[in-house]
Amino acid sequence: MDSQESHVIVLAYPAQGHINPLLQFAKRLASKGLKATLATTYYTVNSIDAPTVGVEPISDGFDEGGFKQASSLDVYLESFKTVGSRTLTELVFKFKASGSPVKCIVYDSLLPWALDVARNLGIYAAVFMTTSASICSMFWQIDLGLLSLPLKPQTATVSLPGLPPLGRCDLPSPMSEPTSQTAYLEAIMEKFHSLNEDDWVFCNSFEDLETVKKLVKAMRGKWPLVMVGPMVPSAYLDQQIDGDRAYGASLWKPTSSQCLTWLATKPPRSVIYGSFGSMENISAEQVEEIAWGLKASNRPFLWVLKESEKKLPTGFLNSVGETGMVVSWCNQLEELAHQAIGCFVTHCGWNSTLEGLGLGVPMVCVTERTDQPMNAKFVEDVWKVGVRTKKDEVGIVTREELEKCIRGAMDGESGEEIKRNANKWRELARSAVSVGGTSDMNINEFVVKLLEGKK
Ligand code: UDX
Repeated sequence: MDSQESHVIVLAYPAQGHINPLLQFAKRLASKGLKATLATTYYTVNSIDAPTVGVEPISDGFDEGGFKQASSLDVYLESFKTVGSRTLTELVFKFKASGSPVKCIVYDSLLPWALDVARNLGIYAAVFMTTSASICSMFWQIDLGLLSLPLKPQTATVSLPGLPPLGRCDLPSPMSEPTSQTAYLEAIMEKFHSLNEDDWVFCNSFEDLETVKKLVKAMRGKWPLVMVGPMVPSAYLDQQIDGDRAYGASLWKPTSSQCLTWLATKPPRSVIYGSFGSMENISAEQVEEIAWGLKASNRPFLWVLKESEKKLPTGFLNSVGETGMVVSWCNQLEELAHQAIGCFVTHCGWNSTLEGLGLGVPMVCVTERTDQPMNAKFVEDVWKVGVRTKKDEVGIVTREELEKCIRGAMDGESGEEIKRNANKWRELARSAVSVGGTSDMNINEFVVKLLEGKK
């Protein structure tokens, strides 16, 4: 069969932290001989620039601005399910009519209805998990009844097979705060309930990172996850100057050239890079503490903060002068890979965590919600590549705490140990996606099956 006929649609939830790994996966499939098309919503489709991959819009019912136009998250997800199912089906028919039939839909785990679309069309379905395998294992164990939700108020620690003991503050926020994000939790649990119906379950992680053998044993051998990550563009993992050096999607305009010029004036491994992801919504009090904590660390810093003019304390930028730079958006990978960067103050979104690990940058974790606390737990206690900040009694990371953690990650014996571990994980991440590595082989198996399969 002509490989051009082995066509895969990769469906991404329209957020930066979801488009990045799914687009990267589509690019890897294309580099291995499949025809890959990324499908996402009308208002994100024009932000994508990836020449080896086709890009097509589908509708979530809010074509001008998506989620922000909807009255609530429930309304948005319900609309995406109804309108998205119809428009994704139309897209598959359109490709069939044009002589490029689709064999498989790889879909984001936040869009579980795509499984029914694939089933109704008689094509393969593969779900792509954008969080860690440990998080997936936890949700699956909940679905299997090994842990009941909501947690009882007196539950302080959760012990699950294959995972380290997790304190309440380590758990994903829909679990630790049962009233928050119930729509997301429902979408996630719906997916875990139907996990065995997918032809493949991909995870953006790699086998060494998550001691998969332990997780498989914990699930009594019923472990459907296929590790294909980290989905970080390979030129960064290989430290090549050319090659694939961008995700190929940016929902905001980066100010990267300015940042690189500024970084070039700083000594190697001296700069703190601070970023809290694409959905950052940090309170004014917390911004103030971060600002003075960065200043007190006495090192140069580059900080990504949207609407900084409204949020930064008065006089802060003047007081730091050339030592600090604040931008609203940048090409994070380009900055993180710069030799001047010595530490990453991060919210521990899964993509940022994998980027820090894959580029060997010590991390300081200042988490907000969702999977971030559990990722931070692993950064500090399992992989030992960073330091996790503690919040005070009103839920704020104080300037003193931030300064202390930055010193712990960059200075003295603890800093040296973190650097050694960071180098080790960087090497393991690189080898997982290199030719013959575990993730690379897992992707090859999928590609071979699609090239030969009948569906
Ligand atoms: C969210 C969740 O936090 C994450 O855990 C989940 O798995 C996916 O959705 P987000 O909060 O945006 O994502 O964080 P993260 O997962 O780190 O993704 C952000 C992406 O935006 C990263 O790939 C990062 O490189 C990129 N980024 C961030 C930029 O390119 N420029 C910036 O200035 C900031």
